[in-house]
Amino acid sequence: MVVLNVNDLTKVYNSKKNISKTNALNGINLKIEQGEFVGIMGPSGSGKTTLLNILSGIDNATSGKIEILGEDINKMSKNSMTLFRRNNLGYVFQEFNLLDSLTIEENIMLPLSFCCENLEELNEKVKNIMSMLDIESIKNQYPYSVSGGEQQRTAIGRAIINNPNVIFADEPTGNLDSKSSNIVMQYFEKLNILKKNTIVVVTHDPFTASYCNRIIFIKDGLVNSEITKSGTNRKRFFGQIMENLTVLGGDDDEFSTDFF
Ligand SMILES: Nc1ncnc2c1ncn2[C@@H]1O[C@H](COP(=O)(O)OP(=O)(O)OP(=O)(O)O)[C@@H](O)[C@H]1O
Ligand SMILES: [Mg+2]
Repeated sequence: MVVLNVNDLTKVYNSKKNISKTNALNGINLKIEQGEFVGIMGPSGSGKTTLLNILSGIDNATSGKIEILGEDINKMSKNSMTLFRRNNLGYVFQEFNLLDSLTIEENIMLPLSFCCENLEELNEKVKNIMSMLDIESIKNQYPYSVSGGEQQRTAIGRAIINNPNVIFADEPTGNLDSKSSNIVMQYFEKLNILKKNTIVVVTHDPFTASYCNRIIFIKDGLVNSEITKSGTNRKRFFGQIMENLTVLGGDDDEFSTDFF
């Protein structure tokens, strides 16, 4: 089943006084199937965040068609989009975005609609998620007293508490050291394999991207090329990603190469 179908997507940002405009997306076409683990890569400013924000309903497109789980999101009202996002989509940010006044456990529970669920089931669900992400032992601590990797795993817990079909993550390892990045990506991999979540990760880091099964490269707001992992291992896929990034161009210093 196709969960994301994007046709000729464009986005133009107009400056406040309409003096200048930026063509951030220039006609993106892509299809993502149920259960895929996809990476989106490209030079800084190529439109990755813009694309993810539009796909996840955080921002509006200028033109083009976006179907998520068979629904045309351009045709949804703001309220139905909010509900649709809450029920079907999860979002993980680079900056974790946890609330400092809530514990790890309370942060994970934040998006739940308490009115409609059985408390026992709900507690069980939170417990399972914390156990899967290995953060049960820190559940009563506050975000500032745990590591970056633990904070990001908490943010992933919050993103998946409503059993979303699709999880979007924008540079989820951007603020993490390589060891924590590794751990966070292994949890995404686990979610993809065990819970069959569709995962779309934006990253400029080839090591992070090597966990994905398909990489879509974008440049100047257009899909430039793509590669799939099928049949190869993560180390070889990392090599292929590096080769593609070299061809794609951009700032070489952006891409780290010294992981393997
Ligand atoms: N809110 C905005 N208003 C105006 N221009 C914007 C806005 N957000 C992004 N842009 C511009 O749109 C283009 C694409 O930006 P985007 O943030 O999508 O790039 P990116 O690929 O995510 O880059 P990075 O790797 O640096 O995060 C850039 O030229 C950027 O300056
Ligand atoms: Mg970005």
